[in-house]
Amino acid sequence: TDSAADAVAAFARGDPVLVHDAADREGETDVIYPAGAVDSAAVAHMRNDAGGLVCVALSDAVADALDLPFMREVVDHPTAADHELGYDERSSFSLTVNHRDTFTGITDEDRALTIRELAATAADPDAAAFAEAFRSPGHVHLLRAAPNLLDDREGHTELGIALAAAADQPPAAVVCEMLDDETGEALPPAAARAYAEREGLVYVEGAALLAALD
Ligand code: 5RP
Ligand code: ZN
Ligand code: CA
Repeated sequence: TDSAADAVAAFARGDPVLVHDAADREGETDVIYPAGAVDSAAVAHMRNDAGGLVCVALSDAVADALDLPFMREVVDHPTAADHELGYDERSSFSLTVNHRDTFTGITDEDRALTIRELAATAADPDAAAFAEAFRSPGHVHLLRAAPNLLDDREGHTELGIALAAAADQPPAAVVCEMLDDETGEALPPAAARAYAEREGLVYVEGAALLAALD
């Protein structure tokens, strides 16, 4: 049986882990990678086998150092006036970015470059160097974790950054929802677990991570 310790060990090796948040929250299983371990094959794996939005979660400290706002605070449009969600107090979306050495930004190589450079930035954040190296808008969604992580919010954003901290990785975690090709809905936990078993990956419940890491 997969545990929080297995998840941390996999993450420390640079392997992805599958994390189901909770039945009473999104009810989604995200593939989560340490950002520094993502190559073009990993991006292909996320879009083919997971199918959700490829995002990079950053810690609150890194986001602060890079002057990254929450999207809802900077969008000056009526759609952003009311930011109600059914499953949480607020979303963690920040800007979208591409590394400046990308062309369109969407190819597997381009997204992998943007993601790996975000990991390097998270290890040594500098606002001026960040603006020089990245442009916004782009094709990788940045997420901003809550300051006190799992004490404040129990999203995949915080679970990913808590995993990175426990595994001694820079505070940058890639998350992508697993969707069901048959129904178009979130992939049910049993199917995500079966997928993990087939692929030799760790599947873990958010509750197990909360108990071990919070
Ligand atoms: C971005 C999202 C995902 O659910 C992602 O897991 C981040 O959100 P949260 O921290 O709320 O779980 O919607 O694609
Ligand atoms: Zn989520
Ligand atoms: Ca989601």
